Amino acid sequence: MAHLHIIDRQGQFHTLETAEGWRVMEILRDQKVGIDGLCGGACLCATCHVVVHPEWAGRLPEPRDDELLKLDELPAIEPTSRLSCQIIWSDDLDGLTLTLGDET
Ligand code: FES
Repeated sequence: MAHLHIIDRQGQFHTLETAEGWRVMEILRDQKVGIDGLCGGACLCATCHVVVHPEWAGRLPEPRDDELLKLDELPAIEPTSRLSCQIIWSDDLDGLTLTLGDET
């Protein structure tokens, strides 16, 4: 099974089990690491903000315009910020490493 690595808001490192075809937000939410995903993945709440580690940034599909617009509403983002609900898990992403964004 492919794994997703995250660093939570307390700086703790976690390795999570994944499921092909799930949104990354759903993986984070269901394993209770601090992501709420309040809008259910509709790109409306930005509670699923994550920062992609630089070595992975170019390996993910480009964000759509609605994702970029929603990210722009956050008080602080990084160049590799993404909404995790807009990233669909594929086992090709094995080892993807994310840091949780600030709570919104
Ligand atoms: S879950 Fe609401 S924008 Fe991602």
